[in-house]
Amino acid sequence: MIFVLGATGKVGRALVPALLDAGAAVRALTRDAGKARIDPRADVVQADLDTADLPALFDGADRVFVLTQGAHREGAVAEAAARAGVTHLVKLSTTGVHFGQTDPITRAHAEAEQAVREAGPAWTTLRPGAFMDNRFAWRETIRDKNTVYVPEGDPASALIHVRDIAAVATLALTTSGHEGATYELTGGEALATEQQVAILSDALGRPVKYVEEPQSAARERMMRKYGWPAEAVDGFFALKRESAEHEHVVFDTVERVLGRPPLTFADWARENAAAFPYHYRG
Ligand SMILES: NC(=O)c1ccc[n+]([C@@H]2O[C@H](COP(=O)([O-])OP(=O)(O)OC[C@H]3O[C@@H](n4cnc5c(N)ncnc54)[C@H](OP(=O)(O)O)[C@@H]3O)[C@@H](O)[C@H]2O)c1
Repeated sequence: MIFVLGATGKVGRALVPALLDAGAAVRALTRDAGKARIDPRADVVQADLDTADLPALFDGADRVFVLTQGAHREGAVAEAAARAGVTHLVKLSTTGVHFGQTDPITRAHAEAEQAVREAGPAWTTLRPGAFMDNRFAWRETIRDKNTVYVPEGDPASALIHVRDIAAVATLALTTSGHEGATYELTGGEALATEQQVAILSDALGRPVKYVEEPQSAARERMMRKYGWPAEAVDGFFALKRESAEHEHVVFDTVERVLGRPPLTFADWARENAAAFPYHYRG
């Protein structure tokens, strides 16, 4: 049985059905089974990794998709999984580790990667770059103003579709040959944000405006929108400052591992056009 942590997150939502379609038995973790809409073929387990009895949680699991928040917790998760007899851990990390970024989010992933490698079971590390799904953050201003606001200096990015991350994770969890592998994962082309907005406009069938704004305005918008504490927003911008230099880098790993090209931003935009409603009357 494969145990998926973060089963309701961006990657987990794609991974659970992909594993089930591949014929695996899946246990899926969420803190709120009442709210989580997890594929009904999975065995849903409700627990909080901060407070759960970890050894009991991993009992009966053969392989684990490791996604938590913070290196300390991933170390504890990896150790508990090893004690419970788990044979393979597949850890979701970030390309930032490959590039040696020193922001707090990337440092936590680097420590967590190490904890997973040292825990005992076989391991595979997945290091994706920025997700196409991050562009769902544009929904509100497209809805209200038909406009995308972009912080000045936003880099071109080789965004990756979460289904491609899930497809690589599925292979790593269900077939042999991925033990001890570290996979940097990106989409197949780097697109400037203005190009992304143009592609999304095509999919929506209407031109969406592209506006660059100072970082301070972008920071304020995030704090207002997500209610994040200043520290979390600063951590995000620290990561962005460091990742800006290499977000354009394209890795060929998805194609090498899956034997097909990565999904494109145009694919993503077409699939998700209905998620961008339009109330703008200006
Ligand atoms: N977004 C990007 O561009 C990007 C790029 C590279 C790497 N990453 C990395 O990808 C990871 C985020 O993945 P994601 O976007 O798929 O996740 P996500 O959408 O942020 O979802 C987080 C998941 O973690 C679960 N979770 C959070 N706290 C928990 C706790 N205390 N106990 C149990 N479960 C808990 C949530 O489950 P419930 O709420 O259902 O309990 C949810 O399924 C992060 O590590 C990030 O650094 C992101």
